[in-house]
Amino acid sequence: MHPVTTIPAPTRDDVLGVLSGVVDPELGSDIVSLGMVPAVDVADDGVVRVTIKLTIGGCPLRADIKREVEQRVGVHPGVSDVQISWGEMTPDERSETMLKARWNAREKAPETEVPTRTRVLAIASGKGGVGKSSVTVNVAAALASRGFTVGVLDADIWGFSVPRLLGLDASMEAKRIPGSDRPKIMPNERPVGDGLLKVVSTGFMIDEETALMWRGLMLTKAVEQFLTDVHWGDLDYLVIDMPPGTGDVQMGLARMLPRTELLIVTTPALAAQKVAQRAADMARRSFLPVLGVIENMSTFTCDHGVAYELFGSGGGQALADAIDAPLLGQIPLEPAIGAGGDTGRPIVLAAAAGDDPDASPAAMAFIAIAERLATDIAPPHEVLDDQAMAGCSARMLDAVDVAFKKLDSDSEAVAAKAPAAQSSSS
Ligand SMILES: Nc1ncnc2c1ncn2[C@@H]1O[C@H](COP(=O)(O)OP(=O)(O)OP(=O)(O)O)[C@@H](O)[C@H]1O
Ligand SMILES: [Mg+2]
Repeated sequence: MHPVTTIPAPTRDDVLGVLSGVVDPELGSDIVSLGMVPAVDVADDGVVRVTIKLTIGGCPLRADIKREVEQRVGVHPGVSDVQISWGEMTPDERSETMLKARWNAREKAPETEVPTRTRVLAIASGKGGVGKSSVTVNVAAALASRGFTVGVLDADIWGFSVPRLLGLDASMEAKRIPGSDRPKIMPNERPVGDGLLKVVSTGFMIDEETALMWRGLMLTKAVEQFLTDVHWGDLDYLVIDMPPGTGDVQMGLARMLPRTELLIVTTPALAAQKVAQRAADMARRSFLPVLGVIENMSTFTCDHGVAYELFGSGGGQALADAIDAPLLGQIPLEPAIGAGGDTGRPIVLAAAAGDDPDASPAAMAFIAIAERLATDIAPPHEVLDDQAMAGCSARMLDAVDVAFKKLDSDSEAVAAKAPAAQSSSS
């Protein structure tokens, strides 16, 4: 007998759970609750067939939704293939969906300040000290140097390290934003080439009292506040430095920002099987897809060119295989990473600034990961202009609004008439 190594196919509910993380960017709700997924079928061999009904067949968001569905379901453990059949809603189904979208927008969806088009990447690991924070700042900085606006959320409320790693220390200010009923926290900004980093951390709460108040909050509450009370403005990416070893924050993120995708950091040590399983389980429970694995602290090469595998080898690939996700890169062990942290200059920026770029394979590895994310694995969502969207159903939201107002005024009119009707019938 061979040992059984294949991962069992997911259940239909698992797939629906994953699909409920796919948000129709225009309608602002997930495709499951909008009734856009009338059928899901999972075969024993892991082939998942999904039927998706679009409000309008030719909606330009179709490609976006297709990519999201294929990617999210495709990376789920046990899935061998994803096949989508497309359908179009009847006018009745369409108006029901539009009503639901409006209802969700009004009543249900938690109000976060993170734009719906922002790609949310959480940097997580099965255990602490593997380099999550170093990966966060370097991947964020590498994305920003490609010209993107990148939010960095330091979700490590007590053990924050992002401010030091990015050399930022000004305290965050609160400002009144037009259209908002209370002041919002302004992120600290750091321009990077043509791009921009917008950074939020409890480390910026210099005022002891505020800092204590924030740190007194439950971890998940604090992260929730960072999502709702920070004026993020426009963002292409939000990169989140997760605190070590907690599933709570992950579950909280799944609720607040179900489109969060995980990048898991691990060391090359092969004894990571248990850790791998924990990370995979956490991802499965929270329905957050794992986009890929980053192996950190890989082969150390000394000045004489001799390579040492100080922390073993193969751990990244083993984890990637175990959870059915790609290995996105291997960051060598390099003292300059720690040094860059001490001077507040992430190693990718040293390279970008032309300081001897060939000298740092670690910087090159981070830049390659960012390139793969931006061009293949997690490209930023497109901003569709009005013209592209003109034929799309979402433009009917305005019409729905008008219908709502008419309903309201109709029922007011009925209420106003009611007493008169009663008196005339008695
Ligand atoms: N590739 C690397 N080469 C050399 N040193 C590294 C590398 N990656 C991280 N380090 C160092 O290892 C230490 C831990 O890294 P980091 O703080 O990024 O890990 P973490 O996973 O965020 O830790 P925690 O779980 O405590 O939040 C830091 O001192 C950092 O400078
Ligand atoms: Mg950290």
